[in-house]
Amino acid sequence: MKPLIIAFLGKGGSGKSILSALSAKLFLQRGLRLLLIDADPAMGLATALGAEDFKTIGEARAEIIHQARISRGEEKERLSEIIDFLLMEALVETPDYSLLVMGSTNTVGCYCPVNNLLRETITRIADQYDVVIIDAEAGIEQINREVTRSVHYPILLTDNSLRGAKTAILAKQAIDRSPGMNPQRVGAIFNRVENADPSLQKLLEEASLEVYGTVPADPVVTARDARGESAMEMPDHSGALVALENILRTFQILPDDKPRQPRHPAL
Ligand SMILES: Nc1ncnc2c1ncn2[C@@H]1O[C@H](COP(=O)(O)OP(=O)(O)OP(=O)(O)O)[C@@H](O)[C@H]1O
Ligand SMILES: [Mg+2]
Repeated sequence: MKPLIIAFLGKGGSGKSILSALSAKLFLQRGLRLLLIDADPAMGLATALGAEDFKTIGEARAEIIHQARISRGEEKERLSEIIDFLLMEALVETPDYSLLVMGSTNTVGCYCPVNNLLRETITRIADQYDVVIIDAEAGIEQINREVTRSVHYPILLTDNSLRGAKTAILAKQAIDRSPGMNPQRVGAIFNRVENADPSLQKLLEEASLEVYGTVPADPVVTARDARGESAMEMPDHSGALVALENILRTFQILPDDKPRQPRHPAL
């Protein structure tokens, strides 16, 4: 199961971008190679990480479609090379992780061969990493459009609101209905709450949605967000990070933080 793919889903403002960035920090601490995908057109994860001056996949895709339209014959066969090149340009590489920002992909008209090639190429890039974390768009559209098809752990975020809980349930139902999706485990986190509202918790459980736990409102997150500081550099003891780590470890999404076995043990 390589790479391990995790996606954060949920209603607008439920904490998808922040928890994506905080989980990235936790996986990094375990020495794993990380690809982060900001799949929300609002680009919240890129902002939460302080990334700047990147080309989005949407922009790369528009260039690819343009190339595909103007090239003929032999040149068309070079399309996959062009895609590789443009995707590499869109891949933000830092010493710690790589980031792909989807941006908006609303070029007029369906161009299915390009979309398929693009999806295959992204899959190929993803293969070079241990973990892929996807910060999804609010709502359930990306599940319906199969953007999250290969996700092993869709994590549905909610707050203590009926609207949040209902969106999480809708997402769970969309995952169950999605023919291509075969996740390892689906669960919900109450984010930015001290105690999950018992009636909302019951509602989720009645919809066969497992509740993983709660992540508290964390003043450190608020203060850092106000200053635009990267969520990856949150102090280790901050309440949200500790709670998220406990949840991800309890449900075996995050490995124990023992040092990894050397790849090539000394003979
Ligand atoms: N546990 C937390 N403690 C304190 N603040 C939080 C916490 N989780 C999220 N926030 C804050 O709530 C706001 C929304 O969080 P975030 O941007 O991560 O949500 P989102 O689901 O990505 O939103 P959108 O749907 O708009 O992309 C942000 O200002 C963030 O700093
Ligand atoms: Mg966001």
